[in-house]
Amino acid sequence: MNKQEAQTRIDSLRKDLNHHNHCYYVLSQPEISDFEYDLMMQELDSLEKKFPEFANENSPTQRVGSDITKEFEQVEHKYPMLSLGNTYSVEDLRDFDGRVRKAISEDFQYVCELKYDGTAISLHFKNGKLLRAVTRGDGTKGDDVTTNVRTIKSIPLELHGNDWPEEFEIRGEIFMSKEGFRKMNEERAKAGEQTFANPRNSASGTLKMQDSKEVAKRPLDCYLYLLAGDSLPFRSHFENMNKAREWGLKIPPYLELKNNIDEVFEFINHWDQARKDLPFEIDGIVIKVNSIDQQEELGFTAKSPRWAISYKFKAEQALTELLSIVYQVGRTGAVTPVANLQPVQLAGTTVKRASLHNADQIALLDIRLGDWVYIEKGGEIIPKIVGVEKERRNEKSETLQYITHCPECGIELVRKEGEANHYCPNENNCPPQIKGKIEHFVSRKAMNIDGLGEETVELLYNENLIHNIADLYDLKIEQLLPLERMAEKSASNIIKGIEASKTVPFPKVLFALGIRYVGETVAKKLAQSLGSIDNLLAASFERLVAIDEIGDIIARGLIDHFKIESNVLIVERLKAYGLQMEIEETEQSENSGKLMGLSIIISGSFEKHSRDELKDLIEKHGGKNVSSISSNTSYLLAGDKIGPSKLTKAEKLNIPIISEEEFLAMIGEE
Ligand code: IVH
Repeated sequence: MNKQEAQTRIDSLRKDLNHHNHCYYVLSQPEISDFEYDLMMQELDSLEKKFPEFANENSPTQRVGSDITKEFEQVEHKYPMLSLGNTYSVEDLRDFDGRVRKAISEDFQYVCELKYDGTAISLHFKNGKLLRAVTRGDGTKGDDVTTNVRTIKSIPLELHGNDWPEEFEIRGEIFMSKEGFRKMNEERAKAGEQTFANPRNSASGTLKMQDSKEVAKRPLDCYLYLLAGDSLPFRSHFENMNKAREWGLKIPPYLELKNNIDEVFEFINHWDQARKDLPFEIDGIVIKVNSIDQQEELGFTAKSPRWAISYKFKAEQALTELLSIVYQVGRTGAVTPVANLQPVQLAGTTVKRASLHNADQIALLDIRLGDWVYIEKGGEIIPKIVGVEKERRNEKSETLQYITHCPECGIELVRKEGEANHYCPNENNCPPQIKGKIEHFVSRKAMNIDGLGEETVELLYNENLIHNIADLYDLKIEQLLPLERMAEKSASNIIKGIEASKTVPFPKVLFALGIRYVGETVAKKLAQSLGSIDNLLAASFERLVAIDEIGDIIARGLIDHFKIESNVLIVERLKAYGLQMEIEETEQSENSGKLMGLSIIISGSFEKHSRDELKDLIEKHGGKNVSSISSNTSYLLAGDKIGPSKLTKAEKLNIPIISEEEFLAMIGEE
């Protein structure tokens, strides 16, 4: 195939793939099979690789994301992203209608829409192409999350037709469907990863991820609900939405024109019921004055438009019987009371358990065994008990006594002043705490031991093979093989993973020990300042608080931790097994102080080092890595693809811009 032919084929594949994307993700009406779609995609991908001169960032192949990690650039909104006033009752909504009618003398119409429960986004289109996607942020400026948004298949990168304004913004909500959320959580649970509480959290969390390749794998979707710009096609919201739909933008089909507030109530009543059957979550209805002239007449308050309002649905409640209460002990020793309920339907799922939070909550609601209780779904997976139906209470029931001893290990619980939770103080002998410690130790950010997930740790503990983190290093493959569902390959992977962890650098080992208050950053600081575990063990309280960023609480936590003999013993054993218990010499000797007192901001992507490595280098040489530019910033370390706004800001503030090479020269590393 020659160049000419390649270009023609590439163009036609892109056009077809964009069309099928739209059919599949926007219209939900695929015209070809997934298989045919994949074939076309593969063909396009290989042609683009063969003829890189035809690369185009808007090509359908580019929706897979990139693993360049970059912090998000802050972008000012041309039109502020306001929020909506909320109403919860018929009266509130009638008041709103009254205000609107008073302000505009002529007839008017409302547009009723659903209130999608996700995270707000503003898409900026220029010459028919997606230029930028920005989060709401504080309403005046937000994060530029374009790279992530480009992976969302229902958002067109190029518009259909040609009657769009040269430049405009369209706003909407990024969300995850109930089914997509369920599946994703299921897979995460299987992989031993933390699950998300609800679709909204998972959508907003995903959108803020640094790795857009990961974002591309998540089932994000987007409904658009507002056009903003200086030359919009129509003077009515409804017509603008229909027009935007023609451009290939995903405008929800649930938009309806209403002639008066009673028609609005009908819409609300319908969706209060029908929302259960929607494939995504909504938390209310949005009511907007349709005419843009009338919108302008009504104007805005400081926070929200006077021409629109939301009506929030009441959280669904169910009434059921409280059968028993169990007390769960978490990894940190915190005790949570959980109610076992007579199973009951609530918002599409059967609920058997509910959270009771803590002793205060139980006392406040005066919850008793056998009570009929109201449950509600909040933001969390587990619903909560919000009230008691006292009329149905058994007269003989008694005030509930909170437990005094740990249900797992029997030790007396403690409750520190000012804290809501009871704690089990027996951190080294209480099963859930032991398992929690081991799980933390092997986790990705700590020792990163392959093959050891939550389930395996549980299994090894239950089989009496491990009682603490040091025991991992005594494990033999012969002990693993007889275990249930343990294939030879997985057993050998575990042993290999444990062996490999002996090279994990000291700061991570220190973090992995799971000492209270010693997170990743603190562990790094301690390791760099003290150099070794022996120095840490020998350090006095005064020596510890003298370290930058180590305060009284952390210092006290460390001293208390190593006062316990068994904790010291574990460290001694780990040392004997050959784990890294001091900082590598190169790491220490490199600490030249060459960047002492300098604050450096990193932006863009680099050739020789990753951004994390550069950050480490800055810190190692005594400098400070900062995340936003101010007049106090000493240098902007600029790589490829640096955001234009950061450059302009640096230039404005006269902050010297240096390249990776110049930076490396500064610290004497060519
Ligand atoms: S219109 C000027 N329409 O609700 C306000 N917002 O508190 C323009 N939302 O931040 C917003 N569905 O994230 C509008 N159909 C809809 C919506 C909607 C969800 C969200 C949006 C906004 C928040 C308002």
